Amino acid sequence: MRIGVAKEIKPQEYRVALTPAGARELVQRGHEVLVESGAGLGSAFPDDAYERAGARIATLDDVWASSDLLLKVKEPIASEYPRLREGLTLFTYLHVAADEPLTRALVESGITAVAYETVETDTGALPLLAPMSEIAGRLAPQAGADHLEKPKGGRGILLGGVAGVAPARVLVIGGGMVGYNAAVIALGMGAQVTVLERSVERMRSLEQILSGRVQLLMSSSLQLEESIKEADLVIGAVLIPGALAPKLVTREMLGTMKESSVFVDVAIDQGGCAETSKPTTHDDPVYTVDGVIHYCVANMPGAVPITSTRALTNVTLPYVEELADYGVLDAIRRDPALARGVNVIGGRITYEAVADAHGLEYTPLDDALAAGVV
Ligand SMILES: NC(=O)c1ccc[n+]([C@@H]2O[C@H](COP(=O)([O-])OP(=O)(O)OC[C@H]3O[C@@H](n4cnc5c(N)ncnc54)[C@H](O)[C@@H]3O)[C@@H](O)[C@H]2O)c1
Repeated sequence: MRIGVAKEIKPQEYRVALTPAGARELVQRGHEVLVESGAGLGSAFPDDAYERAGARIATLDDVWASSDLLLKVKEPIASEYPRLREGLTLFTYLHVAADEPLTRALVESGITAVAYETVETDTGALPLLAPMSEIAGRLAPQAGADHLEKPKGGRGILLGGVAGVAPARVLVIGGGMVGYNAAVIALGMGAQVTVLERSVERMRSLEQILSGRVQLLMSSSLQLEESIKEADLVIGAVLIPGALAPKLVTREMLGTMKESSVFVDVAIDQGGCAETSKPTTHDDPVYTVDGVIHYCVANMPGAVPITSTRALTNVTLPYVEELADYGVLDAIRRDPALARGVNVIGGRITYEAVADAHGLEYTPLDDALAAGVV
């Protein structure tokens, strides 16, 4: 199979969908790998690193026009829509439920679109989302600590304190992948950490892995009201799968927080978990409401592309290998996790939530395949 790797063109996106190590694996399996010139630069992979791995450096037009399988990180943007075509399989983060123009462009083009974020195992795990949550979770205390510094407008408190001076208090709302990683880093920085979680089972497992080093409390609006007053840094990390984040932090609660404390809302990509949250960018990451500094960057892992690219490709490569080795149709027939990733095929929307989101027709994947749409 001919596998293309396109350069990301979204602003501030430095990740790339394949590392030279991944390229070498694919070449060794007998596939041809085409990498758009400069695609890896933002992640510190120059063209010659790919060439040494056996890939060919190609132009933008060549990569899009001649690949069978195209790997990207982010969804195509409007200027890329004319490049979508029948006969091409696109494997990338798509988030089409939130993007009607892209959904229509995918349907009209006849492309096969497999979304990283909907690849789902039989146990409901989302293996291609998890590493980004790990990274965002680890970045959250770092971003919070930075904005707590006085010159940045923060309270002027050091997360770890020093001998004889109390550390800062960090409150993490939600103890999943983001929350656990945030707690570990905040602990490592010496903060006093509280995690609010609503799953007792999850709390038991956190209790075990964190060996009692954080305070674990059942999440309720009363508990949040009490804990939030004490916190110097609050990290929002809740998720209700498939739904908008619940607005747990009300405007009223915000008013009780310490002056110039920091709220890092990692859940912002699902709408955020405070009434006052709105998405920000790395260029302009914070704004202040009622004296509380809000950090609501929707693509936090984009700040650390060297780490994010490797973490992403570690988990995508096995699926890329399946798609390439078996061919797209056989691969999705063999692997239900990969099949759940198929959002659009042969002009049909095969992911129900996407069709519902835009009031468009849904065709179950099996029906689309049986109808021979590709
Ligand atoms: N901003 C970014 O760059 C970025 C990057 C990665 C992930 N995220 C987002 O971070 C959020 C968390 O992701 P995750 O991978 O940790 O999800 P996860 O499913 O692993 O964890 C979410 C946790 O929230 C808990 N929860 C749900 N409702 C709660 C409540 N009312 N109170 C307390 N806990 C509650 C769940 O029990 C679960 O343990 C998601 O919205 C995800 O999209 C954002």
